[in-house]
Amino acid sequence: MQHIEVIGIGAGNPKHLTLQAIEALQNSDAVLALDKGDTKSDLLMLRQQIIDAHAPGTPLITVADPERDRNPVDYKAEVERWHQARAQLLIDAMPASGTVAFLVWGDPSLYDSTLRIIERMRGLGLEATLRVTPGITAVQSLCAEHGLLINRIGEDIRITTGRTLLEGPITNAVVMLDGGAAWLDVPEAHIWWGAYLGTEKQVLRSGLVSEIGEQLAAEKAALRAQNGWIMDIYLLRQ
Ligand SMILES: C[S@@+](CC[C@H](N)C(=O)[O-])C[C@H]1O[C@@H](n2cnc3c(N)ncnc32)[C@H](O)[C@@H]1O
Repeated sequence: MQHIEVIGIGAGNPKHLTLQAIEALQNSDAVLALDKGDTKSDLLMLRQQIIDAHAPGTPLITVADPERDRNPVDYKAEVERWHQARAQLLIDAMPASGTVAFLVWGDPSLYDSTLRIIERMRGLGLEATLRVTPGITAVQSLCAEHGLLINRIGEDIRITTGRTLLEGPITNAVVMLDGGAAWLDVPEAHIWWGAYLGTEKQVLRSGLVSEIGEQLAAEKAALRAQNGWIMDIYLLRQ
């Protein structure tokens, strides 16, 4: 039977890797990754650097992410078809035996589809045991870089996306996956923002949204244009 190691690798800094993650990687025969195209090639490169540093020679098998219709007639059916295609391609790329590792950005439990895809692979007939190794998330990285606590004493914490920000309280809202500048909707909040955390490109900003929000939105757009991609995360506190 095949064995799968799902390994959280931390959110950008190769030094985020835990001893448990290194051991799991070293016990793997190959690493399997979806190649999501040029704009994310920096991220694929980081995976290669991690392999070179801790398990040199371990093959990195990349599978091109299948095409997806962005304007389908039936959105749900198209996403379902796309996910099945992804799972099947990964099954086809799996070596017949041994241990395969998936190196997951941050932690596998937080806004990541790897465990869901593996479930789908099992549904398609894959027989494999599974072990998950936790990783340092972008949330922890953001707080560490700003020297921040997420909450004040006894307060709630909410982790959400740019799209759903306004659907809940902003007492302490950590926002991920924001394609735009959702912070502009809460001008009275304080923001602690970080982009490319843990990498050489890291940028940190903080202040009142009413004072720095517009300028930050322009800076984010400029950074995205300059690097071809951006990953940012922020804490909003009202
Ligand atoms: C698909 S989610 C993956 C989260 C990941 N599993 C984790 O544990 O942090 C991607 C989002 O995480 C955040 N993120 C991940 N790495 C980051 C980094 N190095 N700098 C800033 N934000 C990051 C961004 O909000 C990005 O849109």
